[in-house]
Amino acid sequence: MDRSSEIGVVGLAVMGQNLALNFARNGFRVCVYNRTPERTEAFLRDRVRGEPIVPAYTIEEFARCLERPRRILLMVQAGPAVDQVIEALLPHLEPGDLVMDGGNSHYADTERRMQWLADRGIRFLGVGISGGEKGALLGPSIMPGGSPEAYAMVEAMLTRIAAQSEEGPCCAYMGRGGAGHYVKMVHNAIEYAFMQGIAEVYDFMKTALGMPTEAIAETFERWNEGTLNAFLTELAARVLRYRDPETGDPLVERILDKAEQKGTGRWAAQSALELGVPTPTLTVAVLARTLSHFKADRERIGAAFPWPDRRTPSSPEAALSDLEAALNLVVLAAFSQGLWLLHEASRAYRYGTDRAEVLRVWRAGCIIRARWLGFLREVVREDPEDPHLLFSARFRAELQARLSAAGRILREAFEAGVPMPALSTAADYVLSMRRSQLPANLIQAQRDAFGAHTYERLDRPGVFHTEWLD
Ligand code: 6PG
Repeated sequence: MDRSSEIGVVGLAVMGQNLALNFARNGFRVCVYNRTPERTEAFLRDRVRGEPIVPAYTIEEFARCLERPRRILLMVQAGPAVDQVIEALLPHLEPGDLVMDGGNSHYADTERRMQWLADRGIRFLGVGISGGEKGALLGPSIMPGGSPEAYAMVEAMLTRIAAQSEEGPCCAYMGRGGAGHYVKMVHNAIEYAFMQGIAEVYDFMKTALGMPTEAIAETFERWNEGTLNAFLTELAARVLRYRDPETGDPLVERILDKAEQKGTGRWAAQSALELGVPTPTLTVAVLARTLSHFKADRERIGAAFPWPDRRTPSSPEAALSDLEAALNLVVLAAFSQGLWLLHEASRAYRYGTDRAEVLRVWRAGCIIRARWLGFLREVVREDPEDPHLLFSARFRAELQARLSAAGRILREAFEAGVPMPALSTAADYVLSMRRSQLPANLIQAQRDAFGAHTYERLDRPGVFHTEWLD
């Protein structure tokens, strides 16, 4: 069994299993290892049907069964487990071997691990993988980052198992260092914002328009045929249609309204604050999940905080048309903010990330795959240095066409007591970015008045301080 496998996979939770099967079904000889041997045995017994997959039951056996230089994919939970597995592997690796981390690791951890292994002549790639369990099996979107030399060792394998779109395999080199995990983090931040926007328009249809769940599902299905064509739009319709086998009612209406989060969206918001990139819609999607956790508080406050239960829209048909425009605005604002963050991070961390390539690998396989991606890629390629796409007349036109509808929805949502943080931040992001004069002048004056923090002037160069309170 020695030295016969082309790729080793460590970690046989469903993602690891599915990726191992994907490699094998694409003609690669795979060696798999899992800390608990029972899971390895169960995988071979229940899921392997003649594919070229061999088990290893110790780390030594695993290292021995891989051809040199070794190519190893870690599919273990992000965090200390990744370091523990690397620690166990190190004594059995040789210079020139490659270790890839395919989990949702923090980009700073990836940079640390890359240096840790480089000191021992071992190559390391931080690989964002998107598409969930089904994507891992049938073709994920793969976002590898690290050295070009390391990527060259696995480019053929990763592009083969990736999802394929009309623009090629949904796998490309994302840049140096932690670029791959950074891109995946931004992907997830956009995912959060898209999902928050979907949740808000669902709430508007249910609460302001009084629509039954089935009619809401039909609306998402209809939108999925237009500009909102996307995995998440289709998924919304499917989960809304799903009926609880026990009651026959829509299961979604029985689910506790407290959203969980594993951290990637939060990391993106933190990075945006550190880098000074305004990502209000991405950030508010994280905060909306956080606020949803205060269910008991919301119940207690709601009982004592009446709201005029007005279902206001004059014409449901007009409201639905406005709602579709509003959700498109959320999606466009989220991509604008995510691409701005990527632009700034690549500059600050010298990743060398090509955002057109990022949008290309998101065309299929990933959770945020959407019809808009082709247009966004064209806009980025028109002017690769446009950080947020708002310098593009084409991109602005898509926003301008939807801003009034968003305003009408926000007014009606307020009347109906429906919070829409993703939509309101998306609209305010556009309104703010189109204002040559913002009220920050008053903030500067107040800061200087109470803290002598000084200010600049519009009409002359220099830094000034005024004794405002004398
Ligand atoms: C993907 C998903 C995947 C994960 C989500 C869930 O791209 O396949 O984004 O990485 O299922 O990130 O994360 P949260 O628990 O933070 O929603």
